[in-house]
Amino acid sequence: MDFEKLQAVKVEKRDGVATVMLNRPEKRNAMSPQLHFEMVDVLKELAEDDETQVLVLTGAGDSWCAGQDIKLFFRELDDKPKERHLARLANHEWRWTLLSAFPKPTIAMVNGYCFGGAFVQLFACDFAIAADDAQFGLSEVNWGILPGGLVGKVIVDGLSYRDAVWYAMTGEPFDGRKAAEIKLISKSVPADKLHETTMELAQSLCRKNPQTLRTIKESLRLVRGMSVDQAADYLLAKEREMRFMDPESGRAKAMKQFLDDKTYRPGIGEYQRDEA
Ligand code: ACO
Repeated sequence: MDFEKLQAVKVEKRDGVATVMLNRPEKRNAMSPQLHFEMVDVLKELAEDDETQVLVLTGAGDSWCAGQDIKLFFRELDDKPKERHLARLANHEWRWTLLSAFPKPTIAMVNGYCFGGAFVQLFACDFAIAADDAQFGLSEVNWGILPGGLVGKVIVDGLSYRDAVWYAMTGEPFDGRKAAEIKLISKSVPADKLHETTMELAQSLCRKNPQTLRTIKESLRLVRGMSVDQAADYLLAKEREMRFMDPESGRAKAMKQFLDDKTYRPGIGEYQRDEA
């Protein structure tokens, strides 16, 4: 795929990390139909890209994402049912189907505004690190609409019910520190440390066994909707599956290094991936 041809999205790959940037800074990275279509293609491309071990999702300029583009995604599609249908499919496909199940770790690097529909991709990412002064808000109530397009679902699943109701019904904006306090994000840091902190996390993930990360991510995501008995059985099956799926035989290697070679302590370190 030729990333240079993208107009609403930018992709940069470096040291195992693909940084995917929503790239409509003049519109605060509000999501247009074109952005949705491009993101579908980008995520499909990067999912099995050998150079990509971790994906970082961020925004160009001083905004992460100002939600759906009210003009291009809503008003201009109101009387175009076919275009509206295709844009909605793409909108759901990249933000949920592809991103939440992305086979590698994903980090939302929230550099600025995060409003409305942007909460879906925020929750779809495995990690979220924001600038202390980033601005968050469930502003749908101010538009006369509800937190739809899955926003209502991700907030009641991911926040306390009290917080979900509070922010959805008041539309009250809040900053990165508050977002960390209510566990909407993993942590917030001063703006000038955002990139460095995110890349440190990304690099630490790059050093881990990719198949193990993939299986942990898949299983945590799916057991949330299971009963205890189903989860126990599923996790056992995934554990067994991983022994066959892991090209670097991490489990056997870790046991050898800990029990026989005595070269590492798994509680405080990582096994040496390049050893036979
Ligand atoms: N849809 C369409 N255009 C947008 C959006 C949006 N969601 N957000 C910003 N823009 C556009 C503005 O219309 C403006 O365009 P213009 O230059 O052609 O006039 C441009 O981006 C810059 O916006 P400003 O408001 O001038 O920028 P400012 O930095 O002062 O404010 C802010 C940024 C706070 C994000 C403000 O634009 C805003 O409140 N946007 C709406 C955010 C929102 O409620 N999003 C949720 C939408 S509902 C949903 O997602 C389901």
